[in-house]
Amino acid sequence: MSTTTTLFDPTEVGAWRLHNRVVMAPLTRNRAPDAIPTDLMATYYEQRASAGLIITEATAISPTAQGYADVPGLYGTEQIDGWKKVTHAVHRAGGKIVTQLWHVGRISHVELQPDHQKPVAPSAIRAEAQTVLIKEGKPEFQPTSEPRALRSEEIPGIVQDYRHAAQNAIAAGFDGVEIHAANGYLIDQFLKTGANQRKDDYGGPIENRARLLLEVVRAITEAIGADRVGIRLSPVTPANGIDDADPQPLFEYVVKQLAPLHLAYLHIIEGSTGGPRELPERPFDYGALKTAYQMAGGKGAWMVNNGYDLPLANEALAEGADLVAFGRSFISNPDLVARLRAGGPFNKAHRVTFYGGGAEGYTDYPTLDQAG
Ligand SMILES: Cc1cc2nc3c(=O)[nH]c(=O)nc-3n(C[C@H](O)[C@H](O)[C@H](O)COP(=O)(O)O)c2cc1C
Repeated sequence: MSTTTTLFDPTEVGAWRLHNRVVMAPLTRNRAPDAIPTDLMATYYEQRASAGLIITEATAISPTAQGYADVPGLYGTEQIDGWKKVTHAVHRAGGKIVTQLWHVGRISHVELQPDHQKPVAPSAIRAEAQTVLIKEGKPEFQPTSEPRALRSEEIPGIVQDYRHAAQNAIAAGFDGVEIHAANGYLIDQFLKTGANQRKDDYGGPIENRARLLLEVVRAITEAIGADRVGIRLSPVTPANGIDDADPQPLFEYVVKQLAPLHLAYLHIIEGSTGGPRELPERPFDYGALKTAYQMAGGKGAWMVNNGYDLPLANEALAEGADLVAFGRSFISNPDLVARLRAGGPFNKAHRVTFYGGGAEGYTDYPTLDQAG
């Protein structure tokens, strides 16, 4: 009898029983004016509820955590009420949904910050990166603004914002949260030498650069329970102009520290987010990362992402991954699970409607049934 695990086998992850191992990756879509989730967003997520788990688009934990036009937040009552529509719709359709908690740090623009203040960051180093403003209804890419370095005494307030947003997530009906520690945003900026030149307890050696991440994880797990919390890491992506001098020991330290905290899952972006899975100039051993986690007693599910299709996903499962997150293919295939099961065909995603706009390129991609 074959015991091969497939993408379509159910599994227990933390507090959840998932129908399958296909995860919808977090996807920013810039369709939340005033940072409040809309009815259209509820429809979009409900259409994708056959995923084993949905991770929402990145969601700002505070007004200063904001770095792009029309992204949602989770720090005010109207936002909680907006998200309730989304979580109820997904649950009605039999799905599970967590929200991705986000602080962009230096990946922002003064136009998006309260009182047009400078964005905050570990150090006052501007990112070689762009952000998206919406001008006359159209996305407009702009260079990020120069940030200011957070003072040491401001950091507990940031941790508190994460804790509060996690509590709001539960109030909004989410099954849990994913901590966004990837892609060159605030937590990743603290982790990596290219953005962190601090001289206090949050800069310098690895233990110091990982301090904010671990404080955030502890605060959130204390608030809502570790079995409802996952974390996303991207050891080598250059996304948003981020870089580290020596990522292998950094991330092995991080996962060893996470091991005893009993998170539901670790979500690892392999290679360059949305780009090549192998970067010759930034080699990284993901097998060694997983071994480091498991040898330290880590039992959370291992979720992989970046450029996966069905054959590659099956390979990853055979090699011991527990969950596979799909990004762009979920944008254009609301019934991605059924399409993977059927071996295709797959709708193509239209880039021009990724960021901003309305229903077009958002809720109008057909299912297999609708395509006839
Ligand atoms: C339109 C778009 C928006 C994205 N937004 C987010 C986000 O909010 N948070 C995040 O961690 N990654 C984000 N990503 C990265 C995806 O989650 C994913 O890592 C990437 O698309 C690679 O996976 P794929 O090859 O399956 O698409 C985004 C990617 C795209 C294309």
